[in-house]
Amino acid sequence: MVQETTISPSKLCLPLFVCDGKNIQSQHKSVPGILTFSVDRLIKYLKEIETLSIPAILLFGVAKKKDARGSEALNKNAPVVRAISEVRSKFPDLIIGTDIALDPYTDHGHDGLFDGKKILNDETVEVLTEMSLLHAKAGAHILAPSDMMDGRVLAIREALEENGFEDRSILAYTAKYASCLYGPFRDTLSSKVVGDKKAYQMDPANRREALRELKLDLEEGADMVMVKPASWYLDIISDFKRESHAPIAAYQVSGECAMIEIGAKNGLFDRNRAILESATSIFRSGADLLVSYFAIDIAQLLRRHL
Ligand code: PBG
Repeated sequence: MVQETTISPSKLCLPLFVCDGKNIQSQHKSVPGILTFSVDRLIKYLKEIETLSIPAILLFGVAKKKDARGSEALNKNAPVVRAISEVRSKFPDLIIGTDIALDPYTDHGHDGLFDGKKILNDETVEVLTEMSLLHAKAGAHILAPSDMMDGRVLAIREALEENGFEDRSILAYTAKYASCLYGPFRDTLSSKVVGDKKAYQMDPANRREALRELKLDLEEGADMVMVKPASWYLDIISDFKRESHAPIAAYQVSGECAMIEIGAKNGLFDRNRAILESATSIFRSGADLLVSYFAIDIAQLLRRHL
């Protein structure tokens, strides 16, 4: 009765990866919750988990073909684009979010265009705007730019408005840190970064800078703001809660899930308790919704606890 934080499946968003081909379903070796599907198997899987009542998914494209410009990001027939329209027609009540960034598609692994020395911010924003329109046309409800380029939220918002997509939401990756915790995610995309992402992602030492990012993204038209990673950045989530009325998403990233999986596997603690405690802590700090590879586990555990 006096418990302050309760978690519910209705606050969860499940990230899923979509690749080319047929009849493919694979999982990350250390984090089994990182799942990659061909479009046909994705549809089957969503049918299987329908009863868990997870309201939203976040789709990422996986590409074999990579080049310097990340051209595959604008391919109208890319697996992730096909996935969006199939899911939209087969699961009308499921909220479809898609990640907007170039890193699955670039051979240098950066989220934006890279001239070998620096990231080309404004040129990248143009490509990301195109990519957002492509996903919006396919039926995505939520566009989630994860690239951290300056000015991209405004550019995407204006393009959506001008093209008749004023009903779509932007979930900005607002405080995304240049973290070591993205390792298993990058394995999944076979993404190797040339250099690092510190020129556009945030310094883990900075707290006030996140508030500047928050102000900018909201002014530019973000509907929801994200903090990423989650567990090591609970102070940032709590700052966002205090400073804004926008819904706050927290992304429990691949490395956070890996730590729990590996610790539990080594008998250091109980896996289920760790999953629920980590999720509870993220919500306690102020998150309104949680993006996690444990979304299925959390929904199943909550059901068992009822
Ligand atoms: C990049 C992106 C990353 C993640 C989501 N979008 C990795 C990165 O910034 O290098 C990481 C998610 C995770 O680790 O689970 N567009």
